[in-house]
Parts: sequence; C-alpha cells; structure tokens
Amino acid sequence: MPSQGMEKLYSREHIARQVQRLAEEISRDYAGKDLLLVGVLNGAFLFFADLVRAISLPAKVDFVRVASYGSLTQTTGLVEFRKDLEMSIADRHVLIVDDILDSGFTLEALCQRLAGRQPASLKACVLLDKRHARQTSFEADYVGISFDSGFVVGYGLDYQEAYRNLADIYLFDPAQSV
Ligand code: IMP
Ligand code: MG
Repeated sequence: MPSQGMEKLYSREHIARQVQRLAEEISRDYAGKDLLLVGVLNGAFLFFADLVRAISLPAKVDFVRVASYGSLTQTTGLVEFRKDLEMSIADRHVLIVDDILDSGFTLEALCQRLAGRQPASLKACVLLDKRHARQTSFEADYVGISFDSGFVVGYGLDYQEAYRNLADIYLFDPAQSV
C-alpha cells in the first residue's frame, strides 16, 4: 500500500505502454543479432521481467548487482560491484537494463567495466530518466519516461528497501512519511 508523502506519478497502464514501446524498438533494432539483456539488481527486477517478456527475439538474460553509496535519496558517485555477470559478453550485443538514470554514475561505471570485455556492442535502456539530475555525460540509448525532478518509488524502485512491490510509480517525500 502507498503511504503518506506519496503521490501517484505514473500508473501501471502508462508504464506498461512505455515498456511495450521500448520492447518493440529493441526487437526491431536487434533483429538477427545475438542479444544479451543484462538486468541491474535490485531496482530493475520488475521492469526487466516485463521488458524481457515483451521482446520478440531469442534473447539471453544475465544480471549484475551494483550499489551506489549516498544518503537516503542522494548519490555520492561511489559505485560498488556486488555481483558480476555469469556469462561472457565477448562478441555479444549487450543491452544493460536499469530502473532509473539519475546522476549517471552507476551506469557510467558499469558500462566502463563491461566495455573492457569486448562486447560486439554495449547499450543501455532505462525505464526512467531524471534528466536534470545528471552529474556525468552518460545518456541511455533507450528511455521509457523522462521526468524532471523528485524522488520516486514503486515498480522496483525503493526508499530504504521499501515500496519496491508497488505496481505504480509514486513521487515520494521522506519528510512527510511516517
Ligand atoms: P545514479 O548512479 O545516480 O544514476 O543512480 C542510479 C541508482 O540510484 C538507480 O539505479 C537507483 O537504484 C537509485 N535511484 C536514483 N534515483 C532514484 C529514485 O528517485 N528513487 C529510487 N531510487 C533511485
Ligand atoms: Mg538501481
């Protein structure tokens, strides 16, 4: 259940339409290629599951786990790799799938790390793009929804590990929550 300090920003129907659009674009762009979809745990788990099922290609899946340090709603730019890929990505077309692009530190660090393993190509897909929060020059190749500001929870996104299981996405103000 949503709690105090939450305002619905994107409904599950709106999210589903963006996921479908992204899946169609990806299916078209990677037709005939050996595609490996890399989910970034934990935040991307619901988006990844929905996106993968909507992609009409024989794609393979693997996961990484990355933690970015910071205060409760702000990053410091320090990125820790907690779980690596199981598969080799050499000569594969790799598409990283994450929940949200904020400062850009996480995806920039992850891309730098994976780029050293000689993938055939390396791109990134995010459900949400907080355009004005960027502190790096990183841009995603596929974006579901761009928005301007605020901290969001739901559909995989958390505040202190809570609210990941909400089906819609909410603007969240920790100061107003109990
Ligand atoms: P970045 O490294 O600042 O781009 O942030 C990447 C990670 O921070 C995301 O994958 C999320 O896990 C987390 N994050 C950034 N903004 C939000 C938000 O508004 N809600 C929940 N998590 C967020
Ligand atoms: Mg994340």
